[in-house]
Amino acid sequence: MELLLKITSLLKEIKEAKISSQEELEKFRLKFISRKGVIPDLFEDFKKVDGDKKKDTGKALNELKVLAEKKFHETADQFKNNGQPNVSKGEDLSLPPVQNTLGSIHPVSSTKFRIIEIFERIGFNVSDGPEIEDDWHNFTALNFPENHPAREMQDTFFITRNPDIALRTHTSSVQVRVMESQKPPIRTLSPGRVYRNEAISARAHVFFHQMEGLYVDHNVSFSDLKNTLYYFAREMFGKDTSVRFKPSFFPFTEPSAEIDISCLLCHGEGCSICKHTGWVEIGGAGMVDPNVLQNCNIDPGEYTGFAFGMGIERIALLKYQINDIRLFTENDVRFLRQFTGAY
Ligand code: PHE
Repeated sequence: MELLLKITSLLKEIKEAKISSQEELEKFRLKFISRKGVIPDLFEDFKKVDGDKKKDTGKALNELKVLAEKKFHETADQFKNNGQPNVSKGEDLSLPPVQNTLGSIHPVSSTKFRIIEIFERIGFNVSDGPEIEDDWHNFTALNFPENHPAREMQDTFFITRNPDIALRTHTSSVQVRVMESQKPPIRTLSPGRVYRNEAISARAHVFFHQMEGLYVDHNVSFSDLKNTLYYFAREMFGKDTSVRFKPSFFPFTEPSAEIDISCLLCHGEGCSICKHTGWVEIGGAGMVDPNVLQNCNIDPGEYTGFAFGMGIERIALLKYQINDIRLFTENDVRFLRQFTGAY
């Protein structure tokens, strides 16, 4: 029989073949596709076909090969899917689409963005520094005496045997970097992660985030500091928020204060968040110590400044009324999902 006719009748045979079991599928493969099957034989015969018939015959032969292989693979897939249509190839167009799920901004990030936005309105920019710091930027330039307890192992994570290198314990280190590299007027915010070797609890963690603020210029006074923080507290927590300054101590500020705001949950009545005092602490602040200005080559005779440092988690806890700081780092989606669209 002429080759082309043979091919045409095989095309018909393959199209009509009913394959209803694995054994039949294997027979099909042996008969048509395998190396000793009909189709490879036909390719041998094809070599002898006359020039003028080569084109049509070759085309038909390829078609036959493609059809046989397609039928084989499709039937094999169907058996794999227990006879169900192969949905992975998109044949079941009636299936509902898979919904896209949107992530959410982490509450620590959204709190950070909100704080930056509030201070940007009064001329603060944002600066950054390394999380692995040297003794100079984390302690010495900030006027920490040689034997200050904060340098000891229980507070600071040293990451090498070299006591000069540690994970920064506060973002005040960025103050130093900014003052060393810029001339006043300086108005800057430094958000970032800090590390302290403390026992983890609902209120404390070994790493958390701080927002440092620094303002250095001619005639900066303590009342500038107070009014800046009043403005911040009202923008962040609402018009009725009160702010209280308590005398405190930091080596790098003089005078120094702790900043409290009136408790947002009980409005001063007393609750577990404010430990029944009506006030919650959000950070520390003070006038930049002249020694620190001097260490950073800024003339304390000409310039004064204020600085503050706030815990971002602490502010997020208050803003979202969360009672355990550990939730921020556990990555439990049931917690994180609650902040979709919260910013
Ligand atoms: N660095 C201080 C802390 O970590 C906070 C602070 C910053 C206090 C700036 C005063 C001025 O506790």
